[in-house]
Amino acid sequence: MRLLSLAGDGIGPEIMTATLAVLDAARPLCERDIHVESRQIGFAALEGEGSTIPPAVIKAALAADGVLLGPVSHNAYPPREAGGLNPSGVLRKELDLYANIRPARVWPGVRSLANGPMDVVVVRENLEGFYADRNMHLGPGEFMPTPGVALAIRRITEHASRRIAEAGFALAASRPVRKLAAIHKANVMRVSDGLFLDTVRDVAKAYPDVRYEEVLVDAAAAHLVRSPDRFDVLVTTNMFGDILSDLASELCGGLGLAGSLNAGPSHVAAQAQHGSAPDIAGQDKANPASLILSLTMLLRHFGETCAADRIEGAVAACLANPKTRTSDLGGELGTSAFTRQLVQRIETTA
Ligand code: IPM
Ligand code: MN
Repeated sequence: MRLLSLAGDGIGPEIMTATLAVLDAARPLCERDIHVESRQIGFAALEGEGSTIPPAVIKAALAADGVLLGPVSHNAYPPREAGGLNPSGVLRKELDLYANIRPARVWPGVRSLANGPMDVVVVRENLEGFYADRNMHLGPGEFMPTPGVALAIRRITEHASRRIAEAGFALAASRPVRKLAAIHKANVMRVSDGLFLDTVRDVAKAYPDVRYEEVLVDAAAAHLVRSPDRFDVLVTTNMFGDILSDLASELCGGLGLAGSLNAGPSHVAAQAQHGSAPDIAGQDKANPASLILSLTMLLRHFGETCAADRIEGAVAACLANPKTRTSDLGGELGTSAFTRQLVQRIETTA
């Protein structure tokens, strides 16, 4: 299997080094050989190649089986015309990564804000919705017709709604609880979220064993806080999924623990859910768990269950003990010491 590693900006290089060390430790447990190639994206690529995601990187991503994608400082990039493209959006689009799978569950021993048991997966549509950089064939999906007036287009299609619903139902059917909630705002967005819901309902017919409900997005946010155990899999459009997945992960102990996989018909990209945290970059403070857990999702996608289980077990064991946590979780370990703990556990646990 060929993986392409793109470290990104800020804490990206540190957490990518940690993730690759963990992958190395788990290699003996993998059924196939894993070859990793690294390329630069973000500010490093902008300096050298004039673009935050050069065409050669896109080509390499298309040629690889999977991508490991670090966080990017996209908000600080210059305009598109000066090479500042959002690598995350470009890769999602170019590799047809239509599903963003974001699990959020509480970890034993880790302080969480969740009100009771919580184990949900947000299945977020990734290629349309309110995202101006990917919802038009030509030109951006937002514009300013006259000064002081800005318009944004939210594109919802039956095709994208069907794909994401199918991904959500297939996942829900494989989980013990077998529940799926379609999250929407069809009381206001009657036409677009109406189309989304009609399509999800149609897909639901093929999954009689999955309990199906529809929840307004604002109510869903409230329910996640008040009674998270009512949810199992949440399927939703791009922007709602972006926001709800951060809420869900934060309730479960923080974005630092939030794995995330972008998946499409022929490619996958494991991507940390959090940002590039430039304020702590280069200080050996970052928690690499989000990217490491994203790697385990990628490994599972390729059937490398044994390696994924071992890595996840090591993360759970380190998180359970305050002495083997990073400082964002009240621990004392830096990125590299935390990684050494993980590597040791992966290598020694049977
Ligand atoms: C995410 C991020 C991105 C998004 C940003 C960097 C554009 O927040 O992966 O959730 O909104 O999709
Ligand atoms: Mn986000």
